Amino acid sequence: MSNTITDALNWRYATKKFDPSKAVSDADLKLIVESVRLAPTSFGLQPFRLVQVTDPAQREKLVAVSWGQTQVKDASTLLVFATLNNVDSAYVDKFIDLTVKTRGVSAEKLEGYGNMMKGFLQGMSAEKIKMWASKQAYIASGFLMETAALLNVDTCPMEGFDEKKYNEILGLDELGLSAALVMPVGYRATDDHHATAAKVRIAAEEMLVKI
Ligand SMILES: Cc1cc2nc3c(=O)[nH]c(=O)nc-3n(C[C@H](O)[C@H](O)[C@H](O)COP(=O)(O)O)c2cc1C
Repeated sequence: MSNTITDALNWRYATKKFDPSKAVSDADLKLIVESVRLAPTSFGLQPFRLVQVTDPAQREKLVAVSWGQTQVKDASTLLVFATLNNVDSAYVDKFIDLTVKTRGVSAEKLEGYGNMMKGFLQGMSAEKIKMWASKQAYIASGFLMETAALLNVDTCPMEGFDEKKYNEILGLDELGLSAALVMPVGYRATDDHHATAAKVRIAAEEMLVKI
């Protein structure tokens, strides 16, 4: 198991060139999406959604607003982590309802917890909530990339894109969403030389600061 994990993590790299002719299977894609759904989030509120862009014409358009990066059109699947624009009291109420249904606990028992979450959100500006929500999306993106690597599926996390233009082109405003992180998923092209480049990483002793 430890070898499998280390091998997968070394095999993974931020893929610069995808093979447009190779498609990720539905079964693998399902597992990849499930890793996002099962990822931990603050309070469990999951304040983001994973958007799958299925229209090739839209994907073509996105290249120009992704610093010219062609992964967004060439990868088998284009996913976009998008934060929710309204993580408000009504959203917390929905989450409490779901908890009541899932765990069979009474709503009264969860009232205090709900009020605590509402207070937490009310204490932040819209900008701060957006940042908090994108942190949750980033954690889930790590789950996605590791799951994909274990399945020998390539990914590229991408911050190099114009958020406003993405929201415009994909109509995310109307869905109450805002693009936070772009994630093409697919298979590396055989001539992507980045695949064989040595990993540039600090030493393990430098990473782990024991105090
Ligand atoms: C949040 C984030 C944003 C990134 N944005 C881009 C990007 O826009 N384009 C790209 O090719 N790589 C992007 N990367 C990939 C990093 O450059 C890459 O992970 C890093 O150089 C380490 O290399 P490796 O992942 O190939 O091992 C991003 C990575 C992260 C975590």
